[in-house]
Amino acid sequence: MVKFAVVFGTRPEAIKMAPVVLAMRENPKWEVRVICTGQHREMLDQALEVFQIVPDYNLGIMTHGQTLEEITTRVLQGVGEILRSWRPDLVLVHGDTTTAFAAALAAFYERIPIAHVEAGLRTEELGNPFPEEANRRLTDVLADIHFAPTEQAAENVRREVRGSKEVYITGNTVIDALLEVVQDDYAFRVPILAGLDFSRPVIVVTVHRRENWGTPLVGICEALRRIAASHYCQIVVAMHRNPRLQAVLRAELSGIEHIHLIEAPDYREFANLMRRSKLLLTDSGGLQEEAPALHVPVLVLREHTERPEGVAAGTCRVVGTDPERIYASVAELLTNTDVYMAMAQAPNPYGDGRAARRICGILEQKYTV
Ligand code: UD1
Repeated sequence: MVKFAVVFGTRPEAIKMAPVVLAMRENPKWEVRVICTGQHREMLDQALEVFQIVPDYNLGIMTHGQTLEEITTRVLQGVGEILRSWRPDLVLVHGDTTTAFAAALAAFYERIPIAHVEAGLRTEELGNPFPEEANRRLTDVLADIHFAPTEQAAENVRREVRGSKEVYITGNTVIDALLEVVQDDYAFRVPILAGLDFSRPVIVVTVHRRENWGTPLVGICEALRRIAASHYCQIVVAMHRNPRLQAVLRAELSGIEHIHLIEAPDYREFANLMRRSKLLLTDSGGLQEEAPALHVPVLVLREHTERPEGVAAGTCRVVGTDPERIYASVAELLTNTDVYMAMAQAPNPYGDGRAARRICGILEQKYTV
């Protein structure tokens, strides 16, 4: 048997790696073990349940208020021990989290080859997003095989990781995951969502990035209050579990008419909410990739994006965190149908839902028994 370890620890990694794990497990000559670091607890469990993946190892490293040093050292030691005893032929990590970087470093120390799924994303500013930009660059340097979602990401790897011969363009696996869960006749389970009137525009908001903690987040909330007060719409804020974020969101937005605060729902529920929404406001990376596949425009609540393909295609706009600018951008999209339709109908640059199959196909050529 060829042995593969797939490592992840946060909700987005689980969603984006689930299609890869499920596709790899179809090969009877491969043994695929999932190592969960548990960087996230509840949010990760939710995502795994949707795809019915049970981890083979669970390190359970999450503590409340965990520091980046704590996450890094615990993942490094925990994953290192597993790799030492099981000795897989390849370790697959995903994206830009501290789990991904520390797991890649553990594999490197054990001299086990590494494949990086979603390789090559860049903002060109090391500290922004923090710490993700550093995590992905470091992971790309450590990796032997790079699965880049787009041509531009592949080009970033070729330019930066000199001598890297194994760079493949696969599309983004998040589209595979998304197409698996969206449904025409979906019935929401979260009562607030089940009660929404979708004949009025629904705006979905998520914020979690560290560089948005503090003043930027307060500014975002101010913009949301203004939008809710002046436009015929409903705003749903899906709150990340991080208590530092929830405290600000509750203080700024509780009890405001037309604004609904909900705990982040599971992936199936959230994907179907996105699908039926008019507009997304987010600092998330994954949403910038998913929304174009659903023809929902995205306003990015950040100063930079490592996903320029969506901006170039016209489906995403980077609007930052200044309340006036956010407000003006939303107002334009809600009132100008031409501008709205141009964004909504822009082509999806992130893939066709077959990325996981491509990754397996490439691995099959390299790893046969
Ligand atoms: C992490 C990733 C980020 C990714 C994001 C997606 C790092 C440094 N950051 O950010 O790249 O975009 O996940 O969500 O790798 N918490 C819970 N339950 C959960 C999850 C989180 O209680 O299921 C709380 C804990 O108090 C934890 C805090 O959230 O301390 C922050 O979690 P952490 O993993 O440090 O960073 P994220 O902001 O979630």
